[in-house]
Amino acid sequence: MKLIFATQNIGKAKEVKAIFANTSIEIVSLYDLGNNIDIEEHGSTFSENAFIKAKTVYDIYREPVLADDSGLSIDQLDGRPGVYSARYAAENCTYEDNNLKVINELKELPEPHKAKFISCAVFYDGKNKIETFGELHGRMIMEQRGKNGFGYDPIFIPDGYEKTISEFEFEEKNRISHRAMSFNLLKEKLFDL
Ligand code: IMP
Repeated sequence: MKLIFATQNIGKAKEVKAIFANTSIEIVSLYDLGNNIDIEEHGSTFSENAFIKAKTVYDIYREPVLADDSGLSIDQLDGRPGVYSARYAAENCTYEDNNLKVINELKELPEPHKAKFISCAVFYDGKNKIETFGELHGRMIMEQRGKNGFGYDPIFIPDGYEKTISEFEFEEKNRISHRAMSFNLLKEKLFDL
């Protein structure tokens, strides 16, 4: 079965493709399809935004779709950047702009800067909707470290580790991440359908 993954984010697509590798499900992202549609995420929760993405893409292709909405929630910032994680510093900003904004907002506050990544994953085929969640808890650090991953990975250290996710190997991140958790749960539920 082919599933369209409603993302243009190459980093996310790589992670989700690895989760479905060695199954009968083939993941094709919007990036693979050459579709650079700009989906307006006007929801106020990860769940609402994930379904907005899934439904928008389903309505275009009329084929089963996977989507995820994810982000970072920092305790000392009352859950920000939250659903605004991708565009926290500004519309169309870089990952580095976002990281520097977070560092700037936290640097005067006492450590530890506790935070979590959240992922809501959704399957939608026009009839069935399945939704799962994953979280990864950790803390923010005040300098960017490492070269791998994307987004806030260079400034996030998961609980139980002393290195940022950007210092993890790809397979290591994909064992513990919020997205690995939500999509592994979704995968199990899909095979029950
Ligand atoms: P989305 O594409 O609308 O779900 O936005 C997700 C945003 O949250 C990304 O652009 C990143 O800023 C952040 N984010 C989500 N997952 C991760 C991750 O695994 N590592 C680092 N940042 C992430």
